Amino acid sequence: MIVASAAALQQVGEGIGARLFPGALVLLVGELGAGKTTLAQGIARGLGVTGAVRSPTYALVLEYDDGRVPLRHADLYRMEAAEELVGAGLSERVGVDGAWVVEWADRFGDVWPAGRLEVRLAAVPGGREVTFRATDAAHGTLIGG
Ligand SMILES: Nc1ncnc2c1ncn2[C@@H]1O[C@H](COP(=O)(O)OP(=O)(O)O)[C@@H](O)[C@H]1O
Ligand SMILES: [Mg+2]
Repeated sequence: MIVASAAALQQVGEGIGARLFPGALVLLVGELGAGKTTLAQGIARGLGVTGAVRSPTYALVLEYDDGRVPLRHADLYRMEAAEELVGAGLSERVGVDGAWVVEWADRFGDVWPAGRLEVRLAAVPGGREVTFRATDAAHGTLIGG
């Protein structure tokens, strides 16, 4: 689908956030400026997170515990090697500890658990093209499937 504005993209995220469940994994893929953080902000909002949701580019992982489900928002942009996923605890926590949303999820190839919602974002004339792929029924429910 084509999403015409940042506000509309946040609304798409809110729909996902409203359905997010413990152990859910949302992988965000797209270039710088594609709208990954914008979508993640909507997801947080839909979960009931109240405070500001910043880009985790420098922090690597930002955690929000005031929503319906604990949310962990990661960004691999500044990570240099896949080994750092282990050091940062991502390898053992993803899919277990709350719900995860990961920006630049394709940075080190497919290192993630099989069950996930993949979201591809791309700038196009008129806004952002958003493409979803759920790999199992549970993650399909996140997009109303
Ligand atoms: N659907 C959209 N249409 C137009 N601009 C958008 C849309 N979604 C996001 N933006 C804008 O694009 C910019 C980059 O968004 P951001 O979410 O930070 O991207 P990323 O995290 O992928 O680098 C922001 O200024 C944001 O407001
Ligand atoms: Mg971002």
